[in-house]
Amino acid sequence: MAPMTTGFASHAGRPSRRLVAWYGARAAGGAALVIVEETLVLDDERTRASSPRKLRLAAQSAIPSFRALAETIKRGGAVAALQLAYPRADDLLTLSFRDVARIVAAFGEAALRAEGAGFQAVEVQASPGRFLGQLLSPLTNKRRDRYGRAPGGRMQALIQAVGAIRTATSGRVPVLVRFSADERDPTGITLHRALEIARALETAGVAALEIVGGAASVPPTELLSSGVGEATRVDLAAAVKQAVSVPVIANGRIVTGDSAAEVVTRGQAHLVSLGRALLADPAWAAKHRAGIENEIAPCIGCMACFTPAPDGGIGCPVNGDAGHEYLPPLVMADQPRRVAVLGASLAGLELARVAAARGHDVSISTAGLPLGGLLGLRAGVPGNAEFGRAFLYAGDRLRELGVFIVDDAAPGADVLLDCRAGAERRPPWLTDRGTLLAGELLGRDLHEMYGIGRRVAVVGYGALAAEVALFLGGWGRRCTVVVSASENQPFPDVHPNHAARLRERLEGYKVPIVAGATVRAWHYDTDRKSELDVTRNSARETLGPFHTVVSAAGWTLPRPWPQRTLVPRLPRLPKTILAGTVFALQDTPYPEPLRDQVTFANLLARVI
Ligand SMILES: Cc1cc2nc3c(=O)[nH]c(=O)nc-3n(C[C@H](O)[C@H](O)[C@H](O)COP(=O)(O)O)c2cc1C
Ligand code: SF4
Repeated sequence: MAPMTTGFASHAGRPSRRLVAWYGARAAGGAALVIVEETLVLDDERTRASSPRKLRLAAQSAIPSFRALAETIKRGGAVAALQLAYPRADDLLTLSFRDVARIVAAFGEAALRAEGAGFQAVEVQASPGRFLGQLLSPLTNKRRDRYGRAPGGRMQALIQAVGAIRTATSGRVPVLVRFSADERDPTGITLHRALEIARALETAGVAALEIVGGAASVPPTELLSSGVGEATRVDLAAAVKQAVSVPVIANGRIVTGDSAAEVVTRGQAHLVSLGRALLADPAWAAKHRAGIENEIAPCIGCMACFTPAPDGGIGCPVNGDAGHEYLPPLVMADQPRRVAVLGASLAGLELARVAAARGHDVSISTAGLPLGGLLGLRAGVPGNAEFGRAFLYAGDRLRELGVFIVDDAAPGADVLLDCRAGAERRPPWLTDRGTLLAGELLGRDLHEMYGIGRRVAVVGYGALAAEVALFLGGWGRRCTVVVSASENQPFPDVHPNHAARLRERLEGYKVPIVAGATVRAWHYDTDRKSELDVTRNSARETLGPFHTVVSAAGWTLPRPWPQRTLVPRLPRLPKTILAGTVFALQDTPYPEPLRDQVTFANLLARVI
């Protein structure tokens, strides 16, 4: 299991009951080696400012609480490793030689504590964006002293950290190192430089190398989102494996058993580390081993886990149990009730699953949208097909539980969860001539595409407009995307990785993007010379001619999205749920609020 910061550490940086249960589930789920998330090696101003919910093993007094974590992982059947880290220093240039040496030495002291707590290995975090990775890269290390001069100097701190750990633990604790083998910048760490680093680390006595790519935590260039394929960084691991004789671990978008097995059998890496695949399903490895791959909850690459949930923790719209591993197992309901779910969004599907598993009589209706609700609509867009895997998985689980998804929910329910989409927004310029709404368009079949002319303008705020254009591009339409978001960030409402992929795909279909434009009017002309009247950079412009214009303004939500501060606050979980209670969540096409709704639906269904 690859290290993933959960946000479940206590404010003091100790493993909480929630965090221990999280790792316990993944160890028991069949992972061979669990690398626990970044754990800070020092307690100083920089680490205190870095994040309030990060693990910290900077003092002897922390050892007992880490012992419970290591014990739980080992009891689950996995080898327990701890990732050791120090945050990025904004003042790298002004840090004295002694300051750097002090931080480096702290890795050795923390490793000794990790050993004392029962960890069987440590991993040194030298990825870009963290102190040792920052020193390793010519992009970020401009120091002129022995920690900066020449490639050898930039490796100094990392090599010394490995040495400090080996000395402090007298070589008893295997040391893994994670670093980027390609910063996708000719002036940064290139693969050529990475091989030199790998060889130097081998000489320094590392036990294994975990190879990642990219220059910042998740740069848009990294192929980690849906629609990019699988095992997208394995070539880097394969090249490093050729250069060293220590085990090499491949990481990055390895989501299915087939791709994991292929990496190893083809000899591209000795091991694979999976992050999000195990977030989405802690029992991934056990299910793969048992040959029940279709029962694995699939990571769909939605990127929601890269943004913390409102409580600061990790979550996943495909796995409503994520973060709930510390709760008691599901118990059968004392009094089976009729539970109706309106809308088959992932939140609706999750509520139906948990309620049915507890013995309730559950009905779920699609409410006029495809399986998956608004995210289901998006799944029809080229590049989004992976989303569909989550709905199929959830649908299968419901079928096993005897819940069928129908067009209309049964009347007379005791508890009703309304996960239907809000109304689709209708901008003032919309007329009933030559115009369409995105919601009407996505999901159409071939025979329904005839009425749409060849030249189409798709107007919206951000990503939805791009997706509609891709959908139409697939049907041979020549689209222009007109968005109100700015030129340098035309799709700010999706993760930068998704935004980068959208731009690439639009380029592939030769779809121009007109950004920063507000539509004033649509002038429909029966001679097919219809035009859009827009304001851009405070000036008026005419775009066209178009045959059709599609409005992709999205759906109404209880509160506006995507402003982070306005993430819809979910209703508080009631203690008693009376007959006749209605919960209104609404649907959303965005994975982040969907994740929060799924988490809520999971908790709600436990108490009905
Ligand atoms: C929520 C989250 C937290 C992460 N935290 C860490 C971390 O603490 N240390 C680290 O080296 N990488 C971290 N990563 C990166 C993952 O280890 C991994 O490299 C990345 O998710 C790609 O692998 P995957 O496609 O198997 O998820 C994190 C990733 C996610 C999604
Ligand atoms: S939140 Fe999305 S990207 Fe993250 S594990 Fe879940 S499905 Fe995968």
